[in-house]
Amino acid sequence: MLAVHLISFFFSKLKEDPTKKVDRFLYAMRLHDDQLSDISARFQAEMKKGLSAESNAAAAVKMLPTHVRSTPDGSEKGQFLALDIGGSKFKVLQVKVREGIGIRKGGVEMEEKTYPMPKELLIGKGSELFDHVSESLKDFMQEKSISMEKKHPLAFTFSFPCEQTTLDQGMLLSWSKNYRARGLQGKDVVQALREAIDRTGGMDIDVSAMVNDTVATMMTCGFDDRYCEVGLIIGTGTNACYMEELRHVDLVEGDEGRMCVNTEWGAFGDDGALNDYITQFDRDVDAASVNPGKQIFEKMVSGMYLGELVRLVVLKMAKRGLLFDGSVSNALRTKGRITTADVAAMEQYKNGLNNTRDILMALDLNPSHDDCIAVQHVSTIVSFRSSNLVAAGLAAILTRIKQNRNLRSLRITVGVDGTVYKTHPQYPKRLHKVVRRLLPECHVRFVLSDSGSSKGAALVTAVAQRLASLKRQVVETLSPFRLNQAQLQLVKARMREGLEAGLKMKGSSTVKMLPSFVYHTPDGTEHGKYLALDLGGTNFRALLVKFKKGLQQNARLYHKIYTIPLETMQGTGEELFDHIAQCVSDFLDYMGMKNAHLPAGFTFSFPCEQTAIDTGTLVTWTKGFKATDCEGHDVVSMLREAIKRRNEYNLDIVAVVNDTVGTMMSCAYEDPRCEVGLIAGTGTNVCYMEELKNIQKTKENTGTMKRDDGIPEGEQDDGTEREKKEGDAEISKMCINTEWGGLGDDGSLDDIATPYDKEVDQNSINPGKQRFEKLTSGMYLGEIVRQVVLDLTRGGLLFRGHVTEPLKTPGIFQTKFLSQIESDRLALLQVRSILQQLGLDSTCHDSIIVKEVCKAVSHRAAQLCGAGMAAVVDKIRENRGLDHLKITVGVDGALYKLHPHFSQVLQKTARGLAPQCDVTFMPSEEGSGKGAALITAVAKQNQP
Ligand code: BG6
Ligand code: BG6
Ligand code: GLC
Ligand code: GLC
Repeated sequence: MLAVHLISFFFSKLKEDPTKKVDRFLYAMRLHDDQLSDISARFQAEMKKGLSAESNAAAAVKMLPTHVRSTPDGSEKGQFLALDIGGSKFKVLQVKVREGIGIRKGGVEMEEKTYPMPKELLIGKGSELFDHVSESLKDFMQEKSISMEKKHPLAFTFSFPCEQTTLDQGMLLSWSKNYRARGLQGKDVVQALREAIDRTGGMDIDVSAMVNDTVATMMTCGFDDRYCEVGLIIGTGTNACYMEELRHVDLVEGDEGRMCVNTEWGAFGDDGALNDYITQFDRDVDAASVNPGKQIFEKMVSGMYLGELVRLVVLKMAKRGLLFDGSVSNALRTKGRITTADVAAMEQYKNGLNNTRDILMALDLNPSHDDCIAVQHVSTIVSFRSSNLVAAGLAAILTRIKQNRNLRSLRITVGVDGTVYKTHPQYPKRLHKVVRRLLPECHVRFVLSDSGSSKGAALVTAVAQRLASLKRQVVETLSPFRLNQAQLQLVKARMREGLEAGLKMKGSSTVKMLPSFVYHTPDGTEHGKYLALDLGGTNFRALLVKFKKGLQQNARLYHKIYTIPLETMQGTGEELFDHIAQCVSDFLDYMGMKNAHLPAGFTFSFPCEQTAIDTGTLVTWTKGFKATDCEGHDVVSMLREAIKRRNEYNLDIVAVVNDTVGTMMSCAYEDPRCEVGLIAGTGTNVCYMEELKNIQKTKENTGTMKRDDGIPEGEQDDGTEREKKEGDAEISKMCINTEWGGLGDDGSLDDIATPYDKEVDQNSINPGKQRFEKLTSGMYLGEIVRQVVLDLTRGGLLFRGHVTEPLKTPGIFQTKFLSQIESDRLALLQVRSILQQLGLDSTCHDSIIVKEVCKAVSHRAAQLCGAGMAAVVDKIRENRGLDHLKITVGVDGALYKLHPHFSQVLQKTARGLAPQCDVTFMPSEEGSGKGAALITAVAKQNQP
């Protein structure tokens, strides 16, 4: 007896373990950790490629932005219908999410029904597939007695690769798994669903959000675990999503915060990246699939293919005589006869071998015990490879998240779903173990989504709905800022009336049309050294300018910038001019020219009534200035007196010039067509060359210009100059400083002004004055923005309704911030840091809304300036009796030069509203100081 036992023991040792031959046969499918690390590194490289704008088009792994910016925060609420297609089951659901309650406490209630998805629909016409979906939806609503009259938001889980530009839109890139319906690739599937719902009729459905199943799974699990930032599906197909830093998502604007990216990792290897890991069996599975060459990784991993891989291996081994004594059945030769459920059954802990026998017998095979052990082992190797590959992919994602956040270790939860993960007895444990082995420094928790993906889809929809309603309210608030063509035409017409009225009625009109006593643009003969003082923009500037005759390029400029403190701007006139005299003194010291007694031009950027080139009576302060005892006085005399009081240096102040005029002259020095000057800065204003006869006739009785011959009084004693110029037809024009900022001071713009504009006007130092300027210029735009932001906050649409002290403070929103906020790159980050400086703790959405507000306000400002400019150039054209005018506008001002969009919008509007004018806009290079120096040069040459 003992001998028999010994012999059988001896033979059992001699007879090979049946798993060994399988191991040898499937050597290439058994992946070691170093190979997995290698695959993981390759996948990391693929992710990078997919995220970058340059390489995305060619990338196999698409890394699709999902527009889901946060995991659930508990504020989601509402009642939703949901559709779930693309997994092994097609489901219609109703999901109720109660505010602020976790699911365990009954925060979410769901009712669902699985509908059949006939095979022929998967490969038929896309519209028929969606008709079936929408008819099932209607059936569900009827069965559950859901009102057909009421509008219902719908959450749509669609588990295929879609390119999304918003949450409620998604272009199907390609089908995967067993779907291949015609006419949907490259189309918006949300739109296709809406159309099908319309065709079915009788329902009022708002498809508010579409999500991939990975995203929905992440959100489902994220509802009770805030660390859940990865969603994983190992089901019919396989895929993963995770929260990526927005700054790495090139395809979406903005840098602040995170966005969920649907990796579509199933396509890993489609470009050959996994070729050295691919076996003949994988190639065969691929070749027999509906999408050969596509979804290579998916075909090594997911439920749709695992059974088939096992079948092909078993078939080949049998053919080689390694199984079933070499016999093969027809059933074994038939595609699809071993399923993933079979694979799971074969690997069952206790019944596995019995199950294997049953499965093989059902395939008309007659397996021995060893055959069963061997086939079970095949199944193990195939499914083990699957979990190993998933572990490698997941390790890549987790490593990326860790690196993104600059962490040495990472605590994270992965939300998982899919039949393979849920039904295969060993799969989860193996996967967890390998992930932890590959990433020992990470604390990874796996959470099974036990209620499918629809809960998560509903959460996304809730957020989408809240955002859509927020957006509607913001759009409504901003709508008065959006001017239509007819309104812009009206503004142009009113500006034209303003210009005409100003020429006729001295002083009493809103657009003052002040003569500048500048008759020519420069001709290149200007020469010498001049000082220019420039007051009224953001800063005070002192300049020294040297011209050489005929050498425009060689004008040389030295300058220094001084700030004018607010208390000086709004103190006494004497203090203001003493301050200027002191700055000039400093500049002369700096240049070593204290004793030079230079001729000087004074750019004074406020409305001045001039009777000659070197006198100017301040009509009224504008912008932020309010120094006492200046209005009604000659500013040149005030400056001369201040210099005298200093008794330190001498200046010969030859000309006083508005900044618009200085800018026009500066640009005209380079381009003789420049006959208009525009400032879009702290304030706004325009000057242009008007026909002298229009000024002459209309201002005859004013005492401004007494001569009849068109030669102004300022030049009448200058014999030589007259000789030079009389024969010259040029003295037919004079530059007029329009002071267009005053348009609307009679209420003519009240119909376009919003309540916010009225508020800004009322709070300004000159209420009722400079109404056009207050709609368009840098000094006021920030204030308008603040008023709108304040209103939105009070309405609970911003900053969670918290009106903070800084937000209530006038002037806090400096206009320079508008330019930064609206710049396209780095924008959100900047918005947030600016808001932070204002003491406003903003979310990503707050930043987006604030940017919207800025855009609306600055866009309107640019359009209004454009409309005003159209009136000016059309007037010049008509003055000259031309059908077509070619003209250049010299421009300066921080808004024009620094704002990212202002200049384009202004130009486009002006050109659109004055189609008979060909307007070139020329930014002034050195500010208006050079122009003031040119005017000084001419005036100096004309002096007796
Ligand atoms: C389900 C989800 O739970 O899992 C589906 O609700 C998803 O949307 C599916 O596609 C994935 O698994 P399977 O195995 O059904 O493809
Ligand atoms: C400067 C001019 O370049 O532009 C100033 O030299 C002018 O005279 C100014 O007032 C306007 O811009 P801002 O943005 O400084 O008001
Ligand atoms: C396929 C789809 C993908 C989906 C996955 C799991 O890979 O392309 O979108 O997430 O299957 O269902
Ligand atoms: C204000 C001034 C005007 C100036 C403009 C631009 O509107 O009144 O004179 O040209 O600002 O600086």
